[in-house]
Amino acid sequence: MSTLNARMSELKVIPVIAIKDADKAVKLAQVLVENGLPCAEVTFRTDAAADAIRLMRDAYPEMLIGAGTVLRSEHVDAAIEADVDFVVSPGFNPTTVKYCQQRGMPIIPGVNNPSLVEQAMEMGLETLKFFPAEPSGGVGMLKALTAVYPVAFMPTGGVSPKNVNDYLAIDAVFACGGTWMVPGNLIDEERWDELAALVKEVSSIVA
Ligand code: 3PG
Repeated sequence: MSTLNARMSELKVIPVIAIKDADKAVKLAQVLVENGLPCAEVTFRTDAAADAIRLMRDAYPEMLIGAGTVLRSEHVDAAIEADVDFVVSPGFNPTTVKYCQQRGMPIIPGVNNPSLVEQAMEMGLETLKFFPAEPSGGVGMLKALTAVYPVAFMPTGGVSPKNVNDYLAIDAVFACGGTWMVPGNLIDEERWDELAALVKEVSSIVA
């Protein structure tokens, strides 16, 4: 298991974050770190992503920080510049994968069927995101894939407190991703106490 996978499997869940205002990044990171979830996948769905990552990294150098929704090489450049530990993409884009490999940046691309798993394996990848997990057949589909392929998966998309432990019970699952742990409105409205309670609850659900 790679060091990255080992760190993620200790955490068990990776909060997927869409932050609109980078000024809120350090407080958000503080809430995550102080409540048992010192990690974040900050998605490039917002323009604030790269600045938010850089601010989190400077404030909490030990935090595990990834870039999510990475769709293009420019996103990879911005993510590396901001000092991420890993990159995640929703789909399997060989151009993005190749670019990350050239730059020595771990990438976890999304797949949801056998053909995509094989294409990813062909490029030397052993760690994939199963996305969108629930609409793609959920635990049943993932069990069918893991029965065949020697690949580690991070299910994301429709994962919730109700099903997270069903996914984590699959040997090949090293962690689950999701937005439910860090709802955008709680960040936007700076409802830090509620967010802290939610993060604590997530940690206890997967403990
Ligand atoms: C992602 O960006 O990985 C997904 O949108 C997360 O899916 P969720 O919102 O269902 O957790």
